[in-house]
Amino acid sequence: MRTFKTLAFGAALAAVASASDVETLTKDSFPEFVTDNDLVLAEFYAPWCGHCKALAPEYEEAATTLKEKNIKLAKIDCTEEADLCQSYGVEGYPTLKVFRGPENITPYSGQRKAPAIVSYMTKQSLPAVSILSKDTLEDFKTQDKVVLVAYFEPTDKESNKTFSEVAEKLRDSYLFGASSDAALAKSEEVTFPSVVLYKSFDEGKSVFTKTSTQKLLSNSPRPPPSP
Ligand SMILES: *[C@@H]1O[C@H](CO)[C@@H](O)[C@H](O)[C@H]1NC(C)=O
Repeated sequence: MRTFKTLAFGAALAAVASASDVETLTKDSFPEFVTDNDLVLAEFYAPWCGHCKALAPEYEEAATTLKEKNIKLAKIDCTEEADLCQSYGVEGYPTLKVFRGPENITPYSGQRKAPAIVSYMTKQSLPAVSILSKDTLEDFKTQDKVVLVAYFEPTDKESNKTFSEVAEKLRDSYLFGASSDAALAKSEEVTFPSVVLYKSFDEGKSVFTKTSTQKLLSNSPRPPPSP
């Protein structure tokens, strides 16, 4: 009886210990998983790697928090899945990549701690451009060291499209907002179309109008070097 209880307890513990919110993927399950889930963070790792071991509990914690936002965390053991890892150009461990579907892949450039992973992936799940109003603009300006806000006519599809494309590419480095509210543009002392770069340093604000906006957007700012 005692032995049975101990065994049952042991089995229950083992079940709890193995219950994970991180999905283990193989070459067979990987394609479907990144197709079915809009946003996936994938860790390519090796069991012997020290940095991977250090990341493991942080990664677990982040996966549990992000589950409710429907953001999935997955891991791939590269000693088992060498071909899969090679096909994604994995050269060191751990390598973390953000998948928005099987084709749209960007490197994860945040820190390897649970809160940083949660905040990075939450940002990734938001639209690349936030639509701003007079109620949200001031707060938005202070959300990061540099934020870019475009002001354009509601009918100006071209500015909208160009700005969205730039934002999509540089979303890991900057926050992007947009408004087609004429009164708001006026209170910011800009004319349509303009892009304003708000900074929490230097002079605080740079305005790019019509021609300089085209220039700014075609010579998009480079992302800052990773820390
Ligand atoms: C840009 O276009 C999208 C899609 O049509 C629209 O939802 C969004 O409100 C537009 N942006 C602005 C600032 O008007």
